[in-house]
Amino acid sequence: MSDAAVDQGRRTWIAITCGAGAVGGAAVAVPFVSTFAPSERARAAGAPVEVDISKLAPGDRMTVEWRGKPVWILRRTPEQIEQLKSLDGQLADPNSERTAYPIPEYAKNTGRSIKPEFLVVIGICTHLGCSPGGVAKGSGNASVPADWPGGFLCPCHGSTFDLAGRVYKNKPAPDNLEVPPHMYLSDTVLLIGEDKKA
Ligand code: FES
Repeated sequence: MSDAAVDQGRRTWIAITCGAGAVGGAAVAVPFVSTFAPSERARAAGAPVEVDISKLAPGDRMTVEWRGKPVWILRRTPEQIEQLKSLDGQLADPNSERTAYPIPEYAKNTGRSIKPEFLVVIGICTHLGCSPGGVAKGSGNASVPADWPGGFLCPCHGSTFDLAGRVYKNKPAPDNLEVPPHMYLSDTVLLIGEDKKA
């Protein structure tokens, strides 16, 4: 993950559309769509958010808003996926067994994800709610070890997380980053906030 990619992830708030607002092709459907499309208030209250991930390059991260929270979508490289397997001994809860932030069953694996390539987590530190930032492998950042494989650092009290959002041992943050309910509508479209079809 490059610094540029990290910056892009922090800065870029992707335009979002509500999942229930998708417009069908038939003109007759329009009045119904406008009738039932969720209002801004409904969206703020937690309507699912549809996200196009087709332009997310390997190693890059994007941020979308769901329920007023930043949700990160990271596209991991094959090297980053492989590295996750060697970190268990350094992590506080490598298998996501703690229950403060219950993880969906489909994300209870090493990468904490449906597809190994894509991580979907809420970018809020589980200690006191600060916003961690990305720290790339080889960045030379003095707040992480020299052999840092890439991950996230919370600037408030120094908690560190790997590229699956798993917190390292002996850090103030008590839990891994939260995985929101989500599902794939297609290979390139994610739905955040819902994990089963109505
Ligand atoms: S809020 Fe993140 S370490 Fe304290």
